[in-house]
Amino acid sequence: MYLGVDLGTSSVKVALMDEHGVILDAASQELEVLRPSPGFSEQNPDEWIKATSLALDALRARRGAALAMVRGIGLSGHMHGATVLDSADKPLRPCILWNDVRSAREAAELDADPAFRHITGNIVFPGFTAPKLVWMRNNEPRLFAAAAKVLLPKDYLRLWLTGEHASDMSDSAGTSWLDTGERAWSGALLAKTGLGLSHMPRLVEGTQPTGTLRPDVAARFGMPSSAVVAGGGGDNAASAVGMGIVRDGDAFASLGTSGVLFAANAGYAPNPESAVHAFCHALPGTWHQMGVILSATDALNWHAKIVGASPAQLTDELGETVRAPGRVTFLPYLSGERTPHNDANIRGAFAGLGHEHDRAALTQAVLEGVAFAFRDSLAALEAAGTKLTRVVAVGGGSRSAYWLKALATVLGIPVDVPADGDFGAALGAARLGLIAAENADPLSVCTKPPITRSIEPQADLVRAFDDAYSRYRALYPALSGALS
Ligand code: XUL
Repeated sequence: MYLGVDLGTSSVKVALMDEHGVILDAASQELEVLRPSPGFSEQNPDEWIKATSLALDALRARRGAALAMVRGIGLSGHMHGATVLDSADKPLRPCILWNDVRSAREAAELDADPAFRHITGNIVFPGFTAPKLVWMRNNEPRLFAAAAKVLLPKDYLRLWLTGEHASDMSDSAGTSWLDTGERAWSGALLAKTGLGLSHMPRLVEGTQPTGTLRPDVAARFGMPSSAVVAGGGGDNAASAVGMGIVRDGDAFASLGTSGVLFAANAGYAPNPESAVHAFCHALPGTWHQMGVILSATDALNWHAKIVGASPAQLTDELGETVRAPGRVTFLPYLSGERTPHNDANIRGAFAGLGHEHDRAALTQAVLEGVAFAFRDSLAALEAAGTKLTRVVAVGGGSRSAYWLKALATVLGIPVDVPADGDFGAALGAARLGLIAAENADPLSVCTKPPITRSIEPQADLVRAFDDAYSRYRALYPALSGALS
């Protein structure tokens, strides 16, 4: 048996996988995001341990015998968060999350130093880890001085599980401290942020073991203390492993809290100018590119909260037959945007509202706006040398048939819907756990799920979506001027 633990932004999921790679059962536990000031987004690391424990308890209640046979565990987690620990491994403050934009100024300052883009292959985005530490140095100097280790969120779970400070390449590539081509920490970049190699966890590939379970944790959940914990991956790379997106040109579109257009690459292909992320993949010797949209289902959730309905109710109201975009255009920049704008100050908008528009019209505009943001990322990947021919859809938003049809039509490529859409990152994590425990061949483990249907672009609507996309594109410069 193998266990995948996926620390998501809104919940942690634990999934039990058998030796054939089949998920037998899964349990999850909600997590809260704290927003103490506009643009701030935090979580208390000890809440991750509590939530993971509750999810494991639930799994144990149903599958105790199987948990007792776990041989490998993989971890996946939301990326970029700064989990800053003192010398006793206690968090010094809540973790500053990936969608927190308080360190926009610090990010711009680091990004202005060409060494960062040159060595990491990426823009220093405000969501990334290094600028958060510079923000702490500027605003919380005493806490910064007490910092002994900086861990990514899932690696704090690893510390709890194994007692080890370790991280994998895919997650570490999102810190702005990794030499992404060399797959090694850059002492030079760490020094530019007042830190050194001693602040960093040991680096491993996602498929390598990092340690075994601490005896008390093993006993607490009825697992063997010999269970190996693999390096694992950032949630996007782990999802890709779960979806078998590991060969050059394979791609997925994730409609999660954030939106991600992800392509696996055989080699390292950075192109920071297009605001594309170029990170290590979770399998040794491979990399990936991705465009990141900060609010995807988060935009629908925001709209749902305001109109007092559930996201599913709102998408159900639209039915399944995709319509031409109306005159309302939504820009999903609720917490700024990464690809393609790299703009922490931009905010979202509805434009073109009229008396005739009801909540369904706004829902439709929200889904279309997020789809247009994906098209921006498609163009950014193309500028970075990767032309996608089809994508697999994953994430909570992919349950909406309307959204997927709009997405296929906007992107102009087929969108494949897998049978097992729910287990992307947790399954990927469990697969990495299996590979580490059994020294298995990664490519034979990382198979693709069966595709239940392929959604083709709707030919008669392509023109209308193209026109609406042009209106969407024209709004960003206007909005950015108005807000600056
Ligand atoms: C990727 C990113 C998000 C988080 C959220 O760069 O910031 O996808 O990993 O899960």
